[in-house]
Amino acid sequence: MNKINIAIDGPAGAGKSTVARTAASQLQYVYIDTGAMYRALTWNAIHHNVDIQDEEGISVLLKKTDIELLPSPEGNRVFVDGEEVTSAIRSNDVTAAVSDVSAHAKVRRQMVKKQQELAQNRGAVLDGRDIGTTVLPHAELKVFLSASVEERARRRHLENVEKGISSDLQMMMKDIQARDEKDAGRDISPLVQADDAVKVDTTDLSAEEAAAEICEMARERIHEI
Ligand code: DC
Repeated sequence: MNKINIAIDGPAGAGKSTVARTAASQLQYVYIDTGAMYRALTWNAIHHNVDIQDEEGISVLLKKTDIELLPSPEGNRVFVDGEEVTSAIRSNDVTAAVSDVSAHAKVRRQMVKKQQELAQNRGAVLDGRDIGTTVLPHAELKVFLSASVEERARRRHLENVEKGISSDLQMMMKDIQARDEKDAGRDISPLVQADDAVKVDTTDLSAEEAAAEICEMARERIHEI
């Protein structure tokens, strides 16, 4: 059976990780959470007291950092130099700093290369912000997931509450809007929908429904190639 690569991009809270993980599991594909890779680097920078704004320092740190993603039913388990950081990379400190870390051109170049290597055998679902435009411009299926700001804030808030992380819905809306602006406004690989991406609005869809739509599209593409 032919295998394809699937690129899933979209803003924070659009449901990318749950949808991508569910679709990957149904297709028996590998799921790669590229946001977790930027978060892992950010965690390591904080851990080693490297200035988040210092592009050179962060880029040197990335060269020395071993980031490993292991599959699990809940998503990627994340390891930095052998230490599990799956929960730590979701902390408010990391979330507040990760947009700045991911805005550095040198960092993005290295991350894109790592992500391309992970997808080289096909049969991968990658989620992020620049997968369809930069990481896998030739992906056979590109999806741009979106949802209203209110719904995205509500989801992130509930996720935090479930994980026992302190959270405030109004703050979350402001935070999501600020991150959208940073991710969309940066010079290198801004968050934009690829011309050939299919838009899926998840405001009124469950993750399972969105994943089912993507699997359906994937099966069509697999038959076409
Ligand atoms: O999807 P997430 O919230 O875990 O992503 C964390 C941050 O990393 C987010 O601010 C955007 C950034 N990111 C990126 O710039 N490029 C990617 N491919 C994935 C994430």
